[in-house]
Amino acid sequence: MTAPRVVTTREELAEARRTLPGRVAVVMTMGALHEGHAVLIRTAQRHADHVVVTVFVNPLQFGPNEDLDRYPRTFDADLAMCARAGADVVFAPTVDVMYPYGDPLVRVSAGPLGERLEGAHRPGHFDGVLTVVAKLLQLTRPVVAVFGEKDAQQLALVKAMVRDLDLGVEIVGVPTVREADGLALSSRNAYLSPDDRRAASALHRALSTGELQEARAVLDAEPAVTVDYLELVDDETWTEMSDGTTIARLLVAARVGTTRLIDNVSVHLGTRPVG
Ligand code: PAF
Repeated sequence: MTAPRVVTTREELAEARRTLPGRVAVVMTMGALHEGHAVLIRTAQRHADHVVVTVFVNPLQFGPNEDLDRYPRTFDADLAMCARAGADVVFAPTVDVMYPYGDPLVRVSAGPLGERLEGAHRPGHFDGVLTVVAKLLQLTRPVVAVFGEKDAQQLALVKAMVRDLDLGVEIVGVPTVREADGLALSSRNAYLSPDDRRAASALHRALSTGELQEARAVLDAEPAVTVDYLELVDDETWTEMSDGTTIARLLVAARVGTTRLIDNVSVHLGTRPVG
């Protein structure tokens, strides 16, 4: 196990990047790494010769009343996780390094999909995500970028951005890593009290039904869970299901105590959920 090289400035990153021959993959994170991130890093290794992990809590993707200030910051543990998982370089810039001219005047627009589902509850969130993802792709220059399917709408939008803006990088999605009771691993799980943690398992129980009404009934039976949205969309178009829909995605966002969680599964129509 070799410790990854840690760089914090653009110059250090450019220098470190020059020392990485062959194919480079990037895993972008906001830190507070967990086993789900380790799986992303190990997947990245299979697609490339070297892996760069970015650790940056991006203010641009947080709304005014969201958890930017209390977002968990665990850098030493993150580095240990990166070392165990086999990352070569960790890029951990400050806000000033990422946004040296202050809030960017020009941003990537996530378009109509960016305003639905998660975007309807978090206005501007996906513009902030895509802007930082585009910048991190420019700075790290990978051939592959690996993202988790837990943030399925983010993954769909990153793929659309890469396609629509000809960014020339392969985007690889990785299935969600779950606790034994099905709860999707998330940095925000750290906020859950023991009671919240028990209630949070209702999200995956609901999704496992693979059916909107049954899922709603599971969530309604758990008083500690307040649903923001529960929707079934066509997995290809991310719009309403049609007669041609063969694979759908069942998505949920809910608040458990003060913690907002999201999760999703893929549903092969006529079968049980698979994701
Ligand atoms: O998924 C995340 O952790 C973030 O949205 C990302 C992709 C690192 C951009 O800040």
